[in-house]
Amino acid sequence: MDAHPLKLTVQSVVAETSSIRSVVFGVEGGAVPHWQAGAHIRVALPDGGDRPYSLMALPDLPEGTVALGVLREQASAGGSRFMHELQVGDVVRATAPLNNFALHAGAAPALLFAGGIGVTPILSMAAALKAQGTSYRLHYAGRTPGLLAFLPQLQAICAEGLAVHYDSDASRLDIAAALGEAPAGAHVYVCGPAGMIDAVKTTALARGIAADRIHFELFKAELAGSPNRPFEVELKSTGQVITVATDQSIIQALEAAGLDVLYDCQRGDCGICQCGVISGVPDHRDVILSDDEKASNKVMQICVSRAKSERLVLDL
Ligand code: FES
Repeated sequence: MDAHPLKLTVQSVVAETSSIRSVVFGVEGGAVPHWQAGAHIRVALPDGGDRPYSLMALPDLPEGTVALGVLREQASAGGSRFMHELQVGDVVRATAPLNNFALHAGAAPALLFAGGIGVTPILSMAAALKAQGTSYRLHYAGRTPGLLAFLPQLQAICAEGLAVHYDSDASRLDIAAALGEAPAGAHVYVCGPAGMIDAVKTTALARGIAADRIHFELFKAELAGSPNRPFEVELKSTGQVITVATDQSIIQALEAAGLDVLYDCQRGDCGICQCGVISGVPDHRDVILSDDEKASNKVMQICVSRAKSERLVLDL
């Protein structure tokens, strides 16, 4: 059986920000398979692998087409570069739509959180909720103005239902406050970096929102990256060795060991948690360090980044 039965031809490419493009593809024969908000397709890459991309319900999408949001990752292997450099007329193959992040059934209200390229499925969710008349609010967070893609489209879809947050000013996202305003019985959806997902999940659970009403999906760069595995962190100052479990960030492991750690965004984009690396090789997953800084392996953001080596010795 063909794993990538969809034949897609690039119809248009738009630079939404300096690093994110929207790509609209015509589906062969105009036969767009049925898909629902939260769904993705996996696009086949020249190296034989494939990558997941959320389907976007962009306003005014022509009949017979699908749209994807494509981030050019700084430290990317070929995958994101290939997708980012697609031009009109190029042809790719893709899987049929898959959905691990579907909206709840019924009329309960929804609270949506998006960070970075994680906005792509959330935009489709907002469009679907609006179309079905379900009440919702969308919180979209980024570092500074100019880095948030699809704002005009979101404003067209959501109008007053959209709240935009920049870490650089007073509008920065206060997850607890946003959850505090959620109507009773609301379902919570979050797509973005691991730190943001963790913060929303933890805060929502602490506020008594049931786990089965909290839905999340890591943004695609992380899905495509290496899987988490445990590793050790050694503190230079004391020699203490702390194990970071598969489902923990370094910050969480340090806090669990009783240490005070300075951090803020927990998305790898504010730089507050930056830490010197004495030895070992970080697995950089932030979006703030330059390629050179990442390649130096001398600093890392301990809210999202992990280790490629068995142990990291940190300047703590
Ligand atoms: S807390 Fe913001 S980069 Fe880590």
